[in-house]
Amino acid sequence: MKAIVIYESLTGNTRDAGDLIAAELRASGVDTKSCAVDRVDLQWLSESDLVVVGTWVDGLFFFGQKPGRPWKLAKMPVIDGKKTVIYCTYATDPGKVLDKLQGVVERRGGDVIGGYAIKRNDIVGGASEFVDRFMGAAEVQSKLAKA
Ligand SMILES: Cc1cc2nc3c(=O)[nH]c(=O)nc-3n(C[C@H](O)[C@H](O)[C@H](O)COP(=O)(O)O)c2cc1C
Repeated sequence: MKAIVIYESLTGNTRDAGDLIAAELRASGVDTKSCAVDRVDLQWLSESDLVVVGTWVDGLFFFGQKPGRPWKLAKMPVIDGKKTVIYCTYATDPGKVLDKLQGVVERRGGDVIGGYAIKRNDIVGGASEFVDRFMGAAEVQSKLAKA
């Protein structure tokens, strides 16, 4: 089984989370590559059974939260019906960013099966929790069984 992590990151937290998620997936036997949203390995994406998309939270900390640099996310390559799990990294309150990111991903054809918000003060723990939940999802287990 193959997977790709696609992230949008301004100061590095979402990239670090994406890299950690990719490393944990590799440790679980899923061949995974992590790419910035504007540098996606299209060949890898086309061969991937699962897609992970992450963004940071931009807003006024408790109001108006939205995915960071949405124009970059809106231009992400088409995902074409692949099972997709989303995450965001945030400081104080992610608001409705996962719902908004789900909309962006669905407009690129992704089939979103779950999402998780990772607080920036524990990127390592959050990434690990994300992968535990992700790997436990029934859709992922059925893909693993077929791989
Ligand atoms: C301009 C700006 C606005 C932000 N707005 C929010 C916000 O509204 N709510 C929040 O919880 N975090 C907010 N944050 C914190 C970031 O979402 C958090 O630090 C995130 O982990 C950054 O990810 P990155 O390092 O991948 O860019 C903001 C950060 C910046 C730079």
